[in-house]
Amino acid sequence: MTQATPPVPTPLANMGQPLRRYDAMEKVMGRARYAADEVVPDPLYAYVLSSGIARGEIASIDTAPAEAMPGVVKVYTHRNAPRRTPVKFVGDDGRVGDTNMPMTDAVIRHDGDPVAMVVADSYETARDASRRILVSYSESAAAMTFDRPGATTVHAEGVEAKEKKVGDFARGWAAAPVKVDQRYSTPTQHHNAIELYSTTAVWNGDELTLYEPSQWVGSLQHGVAEMLDLSPASVRVRSPYVGGGFGGKAVMTQRTALVAAAARDLGRPVKLVLTRKQGFTMATYRAETRHRVQLASERSGRLVAYSHEGWEVTSRADAYNVGGTENTAEMYACPNVASRINIVHADRNTPGFMRSPPEVPYMFALEAAMDEFAEALAIDPVELRRINDTAVSPITGAPYTSRSLMKCFDQAAASFGWSLRDPRPASMTEGDWMVGYGCATACYPTAMTPAEIAAHDIGTGAYTVMQQLTARELGLDPAAVTVVMGDSRLPFGSFAGGSMTTASAGSAIFTCAAKIRERFTGGMPAVGDLDDAFARLGLTHIEEYAEWFPPGTDAETLRDFMSGKFEAEESGEAACGADPPKPPMFAFGANFVEVRVHRRTREIRVPRMTGAFAGGHIVNPRTARSQYLGGMIWGVASALLEATELDEKRGRYVNDNIAEYLLAVNADVPQVDIILVSEVDTKVNPIGVKGIGELSNVGMNAAVANAVHHATGKRVRDLPITMDKLLA
Ligand code: MOS
Repeated sequence: MTQATPPVPTPLANMGQPLRRYDAMEKVMGRARYAADEVVPDPLYAYVLSSGIARGEIASIDTAPAEAMPGVVKVYTHRNAPRRTPVKFVGDDGRVGDTNMPMTDAVIRHDGDPVAMVVADSYETARDASRRILVSYSESAAAMTFDRPGATTVHAEGVEAKEKKVGDFARGWAAAPVKVDQRYSTPTQHHNAIELYSTTAVWNGDELTLYEPSQWVGSLQHGVAEMLDLSPASVRVRSPYVGGGFGGKAVMTQRTALVAAAARDLGRPVKLVLTRKQGFTMATYRAETRHRVQLASERSGRLVAYSHEGWEVTSRADAYNVGGTENTAEMYACPNVASRINIVHADRNTPGFMRSPPEVPYMFALEAAMDEFAEALAIDPVELRRINDTAVSPITGAPYTSRSLMKCFDQAAASFGWSLRDPRPASMTEGDWMVGYGCATACYPTAMTPAEIAAHDIGTGAYTVMQQLTARELGLDPAAVTVVMGDSRLPFGSFAGGSMTTASAGSAIFTCAAKIRERFTGGMPAVGDLDDAFARLGLTHIEEYAEWFPPGTDAETLRDFMSGKFEAEESGEAACGADPPKPPMFAFGANFVEVRVHRRTREIRVPRMTGAFAGGHIVNPRTARSQYLGGMIWGVASALLEATELDEKRGRYVNDNIAEYLLAVNADVPQVDIILVSEVDTKVNPIGVKGIGELSNVGMNAAVANAVHHATGKRVRDLPITMDKLLA
């Protein structure tokens, strides 16, 4: 049966070599310099005092005891904080992740809303001083989440595009003989990357340099420029290494301009590192969601109707939503589809992208419902996916550029030993353990942006892959290629998110390498020995500039993109061009998992899992496997462990630290079997690459839930699945 995958997979057809990581030595030797490690001359250190209430007003604030401390340079509050220009919300043609501007008035809008920022000559002094500030509040009741009095549900402007529809759901539903109608929910989750959120601001005259871990230096550059009334050219953002992003470092937050403005005010560099706890409230997160899924089919198992209604929590100010029906509606052949997205405004900081933002919650609901449906039909869950597999979009009829879903299911099922599964729930045991097998579909849409490329490596292997693509296109030894990334002075690049770096930046490299090769060789396929090549040309260096745009990119999208607006980015569609109906482009996969539930305690263990994934051309099987590995493990954690607990009465996060916010550790993940499925897609982009970074965690939560049901006979529809829910 299953065996652990070797860490260096053998490349199959349409895969490159499993090169070692470009940045491996820098990282293991501790030489890689992350943003907060940057040594700047004569720095000051900032510490934020976060609000102790979730909603209300500052009644009084006394900073004198803090200011009296030796080493304290200045204490900022809403009374004296530097003025900043409001920037529009990222989802509203803007660039900031939360439009609530801290310290502009006395109002507290969410847990952890900054109340003051102390700047001192050491971090310890700033922190100590912050605790001497005397604040009193007039507190009001906060509506933190669903069902709390004061939370308001709206059908926000702009979500219609994500509410895919076809045919007549009500008619299909009414006539169908087999139906499932269920509700599901997913919890609040926070990224908790190892590297904390930080900002270091250094002014040189009117020129600002920012060291900040960022998934899109270009957007941060333009956003901060806008907030501080600077020209973008006078702002430089450097972020050569990022210690985990997961979407949390994607969009500009309010802290950056605040720190930069303080540095300008004080005439010295200022460094701010948020605490782990502050990362829960001063950055974004995955908000809790609710779902109603209705599936109806003929007795054969062929779907005739699918409806998916989602509810998502956001802040008062910003209508952030992930609207995952946009993707779930494309999964299976179905003539009648309906969907709806509801936004619930509550007293919260604004949520944002978190790894596979739409797919993790929405595919959980769909794939858990598919398992219930398979049971209702007495059809094997893998066969149910086969019966409903499709080569075209069920919404538009446009053919997929390529779709290897069933190839993934079949390869994963064979390796996992799915045929040994007794379909009856609670029928398999071993000693005191009830054993369950579950599976689910993984998917991720292929997105791309224009690129010249200030790309980023957020731990994904982007340095390695860019090195490899360059070497391949020029016919050079990879060791001869140096890669520079994460600097806004470099030509504009795509956002390290939406799993699109390789497709976007890789396509720009492909285009640029062709120009260089042409100059060196006059059209020969390889440059060969560089010294010889330069000698032949009588040159010491060649500089070439190239850009790549997804076909059909219009001028306005391009302009928005080049100024760091995510709307251009997000609408992979717009950026991807192609006249409607746009062909659906997705990477697919299949996740299989075995769970063991203890007969008496209901302790849940996952001894092994198998995933098979197809993502078009795989540049580097080693780094690809690593991405899949991380995603599957995160998926298990998402099903069983990860949840930010809400104190609904006080409107505050409870376990805002990584002692109590549970993540998967080695003991949670004994064996992971990863299969790279060979796939060729000639339509997505010139290098045939689909995005894979966010693929493998999708559906893993459902696979676990389905396996828990198989082990115990109990459906847990509200994540995370914990022992108490199985005992209830
Ligand atoms: Mo990812 S959540 O698109 O940074």
